[in-house]
Amino acid sequence: MAPRQETSLENQIMCGIVGLVSAGNDNILPLLVKCLKRLEYRGYDSAGFAFIDSDSGRIIVVKDRGKIDEVVARYGIVERYAARVGIAHTRWATHGPPSKVNAHPHVDCGGTIAIVHNGIINNYLELRRKLAEKGHKFRSDTDTEVIAHLLEDLLDENSDMLGAIRKAMNILRGSYAVVVLSTRDPSRLYFMKRVSPLIVGVAPSVSIVASDIPSIIEITRRVLVLHDGEYGFIEPGRVYVEHDGRPIDASQRFRTITWSVSDIEKAGYPHYMLKEIMEQPRALYETYLGVLSDPALHKAVDLIDEARTVFVTGAGTSFHAGLAFQYYMYRYAGRPVLTFIASEFYVYSNAAGQDDVLIAISQSGETIDTLTALRSFKQRGARVIAVSNVVESAIPRESDVKLYTRAGPEIGVAATKTYLTQVLVLQALVSQMTGDGFIKLLGDAHRVTARSLAKFQVFIDRLARKLYRKEHIYVLGRGLGAFMAYEGALKIKEVSYIHAEAYPAGESKHGPIALVEPGFPVIFIGTPPSELVEKIAANIEEMSARGAVTILIGTQQYRDVDADYKIILDVDDDILAPYAIMPLLQLLAYRLAVLRGYDPDKPRNLAKTVTVE
Ligand code: F6R
Repeated sequence: MAPRQETSLENQIMCGIVGLVSAGNDNILPLLVKCLKRLEYRGYDSAGFAFIDSDSGRIIVVKDRGKIDEVVARYGIVERYAARVGIAHTRWATHGPPSKVNAHPHVDCGGTIAIVHNGIINNYLELRRKLAEKGHKFRSDTDTEVIAHLLEDLLDENSDMLGAIRKAMNILRGSYAVVVLSTRDPSRLYFMKRVSPLIVGVAPSVSIVASDIPSIIEITRRVLVLHDGEYGFIEPGRVYVEHDGRPIDASQRFRTITWSVSDIEKAGYPHYMLKEIMEQPRALYETYLGVLSDPALHKAVDLIDEARTVFVTGAGTSFHAGLAFQYYMYRYAGRPVLTFIASEFYVYSNAAGQDDVLIAISQSGETIDTLTALRSFKQRGARVIAVSNVVESAIPRESDVKLYTRAGPEIGVAATKTYLTQVLVLQALVSQMTGDGFIKLLGDAHRVTARSLAKFQVFIDRLARKLYRKEHIYVLGRGLGAFMAYEGALKIKEVSYIHAEAYPAGESKHGPIALVEPGFPVIFIGTPPSELVEKIAANIEEMSARGAVTILIGTQQYRDVDADYKIILDVDDDILAPYAIMPLLQLLAYRLAVLRGYDPDKPRNLAKTVTVE
């Protein structure tokens, strides 16, 4: 059957899923809500719960559009019900309105199986038609619902849930992390995993399966990251895993998470974004210490040394970190590298071969665009170096060399501390390539950031008050400054919804200046080398002549340049410049969002981890 244009609302989702099963008689629903809330960064336009009601022994499903807290309060989930086993889901849709009927969990015809799913079932239309012919009644438009009916169907033939799941793994095509609740086994939760992330935590009285670590950490620090093709079940105190019909001894794969619960709470800040901006000095220092002692850095250098071409890829902020790497590689190691946006990989991967290296940068390690680019390069024999913040996530797992940032969990949707820690790891790589290099200088990065934030946050607050009613902002720079401008503009637009556009300052006269009229704000990022100072000064004058409000954030070299608002940082080299400049742009974006009345932690239409193309 020719695949119809995928129109289901479910086809474009990113979600967080979690399941809990407890040995005791305590009601797990408050804990389930808490664990789900830790996944809210993955999506927050609808939420749902399914659990086996302790009184009736039947599955109850409560779901609706809205954020988790809203849905929980609307239905009095914690007050009205009690359960020892349950699953939950927080959803994000990019296509069509979120709705109650499309929210998870989804159930089979008999209401004895409920499932939550993160991912896409590619062959759902075909499966849905076949199951409908057999008499299954579908209630939603979603691809996910077929999984519940498929399991119901396979159970009829088979009468054992593990057997049904084993068969389903061979039938379902696409990406999926699924948790299954069944009245047949009220002390178990079944799971299946292909492509989409899924991890397990086991404690004596309660076990958990979830999309990500922040959720698990409520229960235990010992975490099992499931591999593609694995399925099985959790019971209190136990996990059972199979692959292709063979039991897997996963006990050796449990690892200890060092993140603490307080790491993932707001620590008194009104928003995660602000907390994460402010904790950059610590994140940078830990990343510095980590990378300094990481043998993987030497392996990465060896790969790059032998490479014909070095390609660099990532999406959004991670791509911008890649651009900074490109700058440093050429300037300090004399190596030109080719940096491209991950979703554009097909333009480049055809020419790649076994002599080439791809550096794949991804905070989450799960971004599907970056993962797809990585797989395409690998298929052609290229070696891959991953730079990620999440140990053993998909991108590092599939890479030859894994370099990690040690930023800790980033909950705010906008990447902040992970950008600068990525830049630090990438600079360390360049430094290592140049022999002696500048690795010691990187030991100052955290101090530079701390100083910049302490010295200029009041100034940034004042600036935000001048700018927050504007509808457009240009962010301009040259060289490294242009690359930081891209990241600054992305931050401003994604959290404050002000249209912020970045481009190299020299491009002004080739078009963009046409938009400038009195009062139009233009932020200039001034970075070394000194030869750029006069050019930036001329660009500022051109903008001023058209009535623009000019703002200069520059290194020492720019102290004599005039602008309407000016921040001169106490750094004068391009290695440390990002650590002084970027936190201020992040803080400006944050303040603009708050002054405009938006929640910077949950920008509209965005999710933290983008697991669909
Ligand atoms: C911007 C932002 C996104 C991510 C992008 C890639 O603030 O957070 O642009 O940078 O979605 O995500 P990772 O780095 O997880 O691959």
